[in-house]
Amino acid sequence: MDLSPDETAAALRGLLAFYAEAGVDEALADEPVDRFAETLEAKARRASSATRAEARPGGDQGSREAEPGRAAPRKSFLPEAPPTAAPRPQTAAVPDGAQAALARELARSAGTLEELRRIMFDFDGCNLKATAKNLVFADGNPEADLMLVGEAPGRDEDIEGLPFVGRSGQLLDRILAAIDRDRTSAYIANVIPWRPPGNRDPSPMETEICRPFIERQIELAAPKVLITLGNPSTKALLRTQEGITRMRGTWREHVTPGGVRIPTMPTLHPAYLLRNPAHKRLAWRDFLEVRARLATFS
Ligand code: URA
Repeated sequence: MDLSPDETAAALRGLLAFYAEAGVDEALADEPVDRFAETLEAKARRASSATRAEARPGGDQGSREAEPGRAAPRKSFLPEAPPTAAPRPQTAAVPDGAQAALARELARSAGTLEELRRIMFDFDGCNLKATAKNLVFADGNPEADLMLVGEAPGRDEDIEGLPFVGRSGQLLDRILAAIDRDRTSAYIANVIPWRPPGNRDPSPMETEICRPFIERQIELAAPKVLITLGNPSTKALLRTQEGITRMRGTWREHVTPGGVRIPTMPTLHPAYLLRNPAHKRLAWRDFLEVRARLATFS
């Protein structure tokens, strides 16, 4: 069926609107590439060839903020952070249980935060890495007695390779300042270290694949108190299905893979507070609780 120029223009506008809604925000090439199919082919090729000695084990409540209001680029407080730019893998991994098992094994093998960062940088088992610009590992002071964990990087974080640098990060900095903290006295990370394309929610399998890394990160940083920011982080780290509105404000425990129990305060995500400023007083209460608890350790 031939379309008139007007009809063609309308059809193209509709297609563009569909892409925008689906979270397609970057044109990478003129032709589509099925990276999942590539991965399966590569797997099949690997399976048919003998195991090679040099093959390494990795071979095979909306909380993220809207785009506008980007913060000025900021320097990390982390000493000597290695490059975070993730080399684009040739193929995107199919997110499955095997990748989650591999992530668990690799995370366990990390003896330091630096090793963990390297392992995550090299890990190709999470499809989110294929579309992210950077690994967003952490910001702040890994020696701090306080650690905060959010959900996943947004656009600004992806660009800078640092967590919480956009609008919700600015609010988080103000909240921290209210309890006399900043990024020299707090350590900040996310459950998911790669930006989900178009800021979509990470899938349960993507979360399952990334969870061992953040659990090991917490274990290695060994904070005295942990804050989970928002629903997804609270659910992932406290292994609960309860919503953040019921969980927030009451002390819980995060249990590390090695069995250490860390007092944990679930609270509302800064991006949620930006949309619901009246609830800031609830978060304020939670952070005062945290300050009081931290004071008992000094
Ligand atoms: N929201 C998050 O959960 N993490 C970030 O790093 C930024 C926004």
